[in-house]
Amino acid sequence: MEKAWLDMNIITGHEVGSTGCSPEIDGITVVAIIKVNLPRGVSDTDFITPNYPKDFPDQQQIQWEFIVPGMHNYTVLFLDHSAPECLTGDVVVEYQQEDKRVTKRTLTDPQLRQYQGNFNLVLNNCETNRTLTGLRLSYRVSVMRSGHPVLCTLDLTKHQRVSVQIEKVGSDPFCEISINSVVKENITVAEGTMAKLSFLDCPKDDVRLTASQVIACHNVASCPSVSLSVPTLDSCLPMPLQNFTWQLTIPNEATLDLVSPTGSLRQSLPGEECDPSSSLRLAEAGGFSFGDFCSNGVIQKLQVHANVSVTIMPQDFTRCTNPLLNVSVSPEITETIIYRVSPSILSSTMLATPSWPQGMKPLSTVSWIVDLPSRYKAHLQFINVSQPTCSDRHTCIKVKLLGQKEELMSCREDEKVENLWVQQSFYLNMSNCMPEKNHFGARTMIVLQKKNDLLIILLGLFGALLVLVIVVLAVVCIVIRKKKAKMNRESSIYMGKGNIFRPSDKHFTKTRADNDSHIYDNIDDTMVYSHLLGNSTYNDSVELPKGMLVDSYQTFMGPTDGPLPIIKEPDPEPRKEHYPIFLDPSETFIPSRPRTPINRQDSLVFQDRRMMDNELYTFKGTGEMNTIRLSSADLDPQPPIPEESL
Ligand SMILES: *[C@@H]1O[C@H](CO)[C@@H](O)[C@H](O)[C@H]1NC(C)=O
Ligand SMILES: *[C@@H]1O[C@H](CO)[C@@H](O)[C@H](O)[C@H]1NC(C)=O
Ligand SMILES: *[C@@H]1O[C@H](CO)[C@@H](O)[C@H](O)[C@H]1NC(C)=O
Ligand SMILES: *[C@@H]1O[C@H](CO)[C@@H](O)[C@H](O)[C@H]1NC(C)=O
Ligand SMILES: *[C@@H]1O[C@H](CO)[C@@H](O)[C@H](O)[C@H]1NC(C)=O
Repeated sequence: MEKAWLDMNIITGHEVGSTGCSPEIDGITVVAIIKVNLPRGVSDTDFITPNYPKDFPDQQQIQWEFIVPGMHNYTVLFLDHSAPECLTGDVVVEYQQEDKRVTKRTLTDPQLRQYQGNFNLVLNNCETNRTLTGLRLSYRVSVMRSGHPVLCTLDLTKHQRVSVQIEKVGSDPFCEISINSVVKENITVAEGTMAKLSFLDCPKDDVRLTASQVIACHNVASCPSVSLSVPTLDSCLPMPLQNFTWQLTIPNEATLDLVSPTGSLRQSLPGEECDPSSSLRLAEAGGFSFGDFCSNGVIQKLQVHANVSVTIMPQDFTRCTNPLLNVSVSPEITETIIYRVSPSILSSTMLATPSWPQGMKPLSTVSWIVDLPSRYKAHLQFINVSQPTCSDRHTCIKVKLLGQKEELMSCREDEKVENLWVQQSFYLNMSNCMPEKNHFGARTMIVLQKKNDLLIILLGLFGALLVLVIVVLAVVCIVIRKKKAKMNRESSIYMGKGNIFRPSDKHFTKTRADNDSHIYDNIDDTMVYSHLLGNSTYNDSVELPKGMLVDSYQTFMGPTDGPLPIIKEPDPEPRKEHYPIFLDPSETFIPSRPRTPINRQDSLVFQDRRMMDNELYTFKGTGEMNTIRLSSADLDPQPPIPEESL
């Protein structure tokens, strides 16, 4: 226990009157002024009157000036006293408090209890009857902390691998923290334990309360995937948690994969800072920072080949119960850190080296795997590149297309970095040397731009050409058909049924001619063709006896038009379309027409007729020659074809 410190100022000379230099009050002489510094903490200090246990002189005054430490209460207790018989005046005990309040008590009154602040205790003696016992006093001043400690039992047995750290950081000298009754400056409550904590007169800002959780695994296969979220600690803690840190420890042959539960992360950069209360600070176990990250950015995934601490510093932990980061473990990577990035189409994307604007860790490497949306190219602008002078190795900035060997750019610290265009997804890799002077860091801006898609232009041109060709062919074909129709109505009608139309193939025309009667029966079904009857132009021009016949002819026309002048291309067309019509009258094939010629040309040009037949069946059936699916009536015209062609 600290001892009271006394500064005694004894004034001698009873006879000193008002002319003397000692203070005299109402004929009473001050015999002594004693200054007392009371110690901090709990203490009892006893005082006695001069000459004790003899009498204190008549008409004399003694004064104790007590300095009481802040945040302490004092209590005065008279232990022993004897009172004189006063001839004139009274024995008076007077308390002069800091605020100048004066409290007078007698020797037998209860004295002050639980008061705060400095005070003087003044004792005045009267003129006594000296034949009796005189004035004597012995008393005790007790000092104790004025505050009531906040007690909290912290139970970490129910939180896995969570420990709590409490640290006095403020300048308040009275703040006192203790664990299991031992006062300490720093306290660590170890994982899996229970502790009785006491906080006495500690302003909230003077104590730093942090907690951490260790997530460790020793081989890649046993490493769990976890979602980091802050556990709820005991609410009896009198101050808020300032931060929560996860210590992620993995074996050397593993990599940490960090993904935001919201889908993406953003690196906090000067000018585009994350909200500090929702940002995660990533640092290597050695203390080197990778920077602050928050959700909703261009980073789809962070891969870090290091033991990492992740720290969150929200203002209000109660609003922080959601998962903050998904962590899983994958096999080792060669870089220190890899950012998987999907740049935004809408705005430019800034990539900065870890811990920007500070430099990268010596000899560390970083890689961005930048996924470009299809049909976009990227302009890489090296906005800030700060190069060191290297004492060992060189710094390096490389750009390489994904899946290709050739490097688009490769640059050392003594070379100039040029902006460049990249046409597809790429790597941007940077590595640091062992810097001698200055540091290595870079900020790269990626601006996406739609490609001038040559292919699209070509396709457009091709399409236009195709339409033109079709129109021309249609005209040519109609003319030829008209002639043919006049020459051989039957053959054209036959063709209308959907069998092969091949002007050059004489067998065909004969075949069709043979089957004419049958075809006519089918064509009579106005249900199938009636919708086409309205078109009078063809009726008129073709001059056929029946509108139906003309219609059936016309149905092929579109597709068949091509084939006549150009070799065989369109041939398949009519067949394909025709078959379906017979197979399922309800099915409309008109929409598919524009598309089919293109495919056809590719697939059928070199096929003989039988192959085409196969193709047709295949087209309708599922990959297999499936004549069964055709109605028998429809098939009737078919058998003659193979026979004849053989
Ligand atoms: C100190 O005194 C104040 C009033 O002066 C009182 O409210 C407080 O409870 C006392 N402290 C203790 C520890 O008794
Ligand atoms: C993480 O720390 C452990 C033990 O401290 C060490 O064996 C391991 O190699 C470290 N992992 C990485 C990736 O550096
Ligand atoms: C994060 O982890 C949680 C649970 O482990 C899972 O439900 C969620 O889909 C994960 N989110 C992402 C973006 O991987
Ligand atoms: C760049 O980094 C990737 C990893 O993201 C790595 O696979 C690739 O080999 C590196 N390229 C160069 C040229 O170092
Ligand atoms: C980065 O570059 C910009 C523009 O070139 C410049 O204004 C800024 O000061 C640079 N910042 C650093 C940290 O070098």
